[in-house]
This record gives sequence, structure tokens and C-alpha cells, in this order.
Amino acid sequence: MTTLVIGGAGYIGSHVVRLLLEKGERVVVVDSLITGKEERTAGAELVQIDITLPDASEKLASHLRASGADSVIHFAAHKQVGESVVEPEMYWHDNVGGLANVLSACASAGIRDVVFSSSAAVYGMPDVDLVTEDLTPQPINPYGATKYVGEWMLADAERAHGLRTVALRYFNVAGSGWPELADTAVMNLVPIVLDQLEQGRAPVVFGDDYDTPDGTCVRDYVHVLDLADAHVAALEYLRGEQRPHRVFNVGTGTGSSVLEVIEAIARAKGIEITPEIGERRAGDPARLICSTDRIRETLGWESTKTLDDIVRSAVEARAGA
Ligand code: WQD
Repeated sequence: MTTLVIGGAGYIGSHVVRLLLEKGERVVVVDSLITGKEERTAGAELVQIDITLPDASEKLASHLRASGADSVIHFAAHKQVGESVVEPEMYWHDNVGGLANVLSACASAGIRDVVFSSSAAVYGMPDVDLVTEDLTPQPINPYGATKYVGEWMLADAERAHGLRTVALRYFNVAGSGWPELADTAVMNLVPIVLDQLEQGRAPVVFGDDYDTPDGTCVRDYVHVLDLADAHVAALEYLRGEQRPHRVFNVGTGTGSSVLEVIEAIARAKGIEITPEIGERRAGDPARLICSTDRIRETLGWESTKTLDDIVRSAVEARAGA
């Protein structure tokens, strides 16, 4: 089988590319290389296309036809919550417009299966212990809104063109499957803490007065390799006969607080870390942990790696960088 991975030169996409190659799939990576890195796509064919440009849809459609691809996995999007609040236009144009170009190309080239990179950000600030896919999404920032709109667009494309689609709502992704595929963007807790430590600065905890066991925010951290495997499982699901659901949470079902993540980093590095306690960050829910019932029961997928596995892989990848 041939799969075209859009954004396959990025952090998460390159892990999926590597897994697919290991399973003997032929992989074509489409990436603008604006933030993606060519060296992450070793073993796959690479086509440099910026899917947000006006001519992208036709270019992509011709590559889809030429490659004989039967599946597309779409990662390419901006994903910084804070940036999306300041520059919503860029998120509408690139995240939504880019997906529109991709779906138009898929329809034109007769692609059957599409896996879409969605996010827990579609849920906003749900006040529940475990987030299930039945919860009505209420995104609270433009980034989350573009992911929810993307899920609507997939449903429209299914109805209009007979595509078979799955949206994976990622919770908090971290770690590295291979050191050379490490997350080099310092935008989330684990890489931020590692970066602070390397600069000899104390990490900052954004608030310790939340209604959680230690007062700091709790999130559902999932290893990027486990997440990549969920994409492989999603492709197999689309190629099967029974497809009862189109949306799946991807997480571990367990929560870790900011302080627990920092303590895990201290264990992995064999050091003591005394973080600073700062102000709350606007828009942070106290707790965001997902139910994994649906993905386990339907795709047969569940996470295999612990928080210590995640943090240790991130520390080792950074040390090797
Ligand atoms: C995690 C926790 C911070 C940095 C976002 C997106 C989500 C997904 C993952 C793409 C929060 C706290 C952080 C720091 C801290 N991305 N923190 N000090 O906000 O849960 O989720 O990234 O799909 O869609 O919304 O992730 O890593 O930014 O923060 O205390 O220096 O760590 O307040 O509670 P978040 P994050």
C-alpha cells in the first residue's frame, strides 16, 4: 500500500512515516519544509509542496495520481494556541484552507482513506474527570476551532465524495521514538523545561492553585511513538469493513501534573529541580484527561509507554542532539 503523509517532515509526522516504512508501506512525504526537516524523511520519497498555496490542490492531485497512493494522513498545520489567538487569520487560512486543498485533491485523485490530525483543543475547558468523544466540542481558541472545523470538513468530504475518514484527537504528545526525530520546537511543557534547564534557568509552573491533587494542571501525556502507532491502526481500520466511528481520542487515560512531569525529568536527568511558581496561564483547564475506551475497543489500540518512558526518551534525544 502507498500512503501520502502531508507534513511528514515534522515531529509527529516523521514518526508515522518511519513506522509505516518499517511495516513495508511505500510512503510519499509532502511537506513545505518551512518548519519540517528533510533529514527526518529518510527512506520516503519527498515532494516539496506548500499546501496552503492556491495551486496546491492541483499539484497535490497529480502527485496523488502519479504515486498510486490509496491513503492520505494529514498533519500539516500550525499548532500554537497562543499564536492562534494573536494571528487567527493565519490559522484560518493555513489550517482550514490547507485542509480544503488537501480534501479537494483527494476527491479529484480518487483517494479513499484520510486520517486527520485533530486535537484535544477541540474540547476547550471541559469540566469532567475523563473526556469522551461524545462530549460536545467547545474550542476556546482559534487553533482548537480550526481542528473542529477540520472534522466537519472531513464529514462533508465523506458525504460528497465517498471518502473514508478518521480524526485523531491528540492529547499531550511528548517524547521521541528516535533521537533524530526529537521535537525541536520549544512550545510544550517537556521541551520547554529541558530548554530552561539547559540555559541554567528554573522551569516555571504556570499556577499551583488549581483544584488538583498538587495544585498544578493535570494533562494526559502520550508518547509520540504510541501516537504514531495509533495512526497505523487508524489506516488499518479504514481499510476494514466495520467503521462505526470517525473520531477517536488518543491518550493514555491517566493524568500527570506539571510538578509530576518536572519530577520525572529530574529522575531522568539524575538531578534536583526546584521550579518557580508563576501566574496561571489564560485558557488552561485544570485537568484534561481522555477516556481511551473507544480507541481501545474499536481500533484495538492502547498506549504502552509511561511518563518516565516519555520523559527519558525526550532527555536522551536532547542529549544526543
Ligand atoms: C501543558 C501544561 C501549562 C509550560 C497544548 C495544546 C494542545 C496540544 C498540546 C496540539 C499546562 C503547563 C507549560 C511551562 C507550565 N497541542 N506549563 N510551564 O496547553 O496542555 O496543550 O499542547 O494539539 O492542543 O492546547 O500543553 O505543553 O503548553 O502545557 O506550567 O513552561 O504545562 O500551563 O498546564 P497544553 P502545554
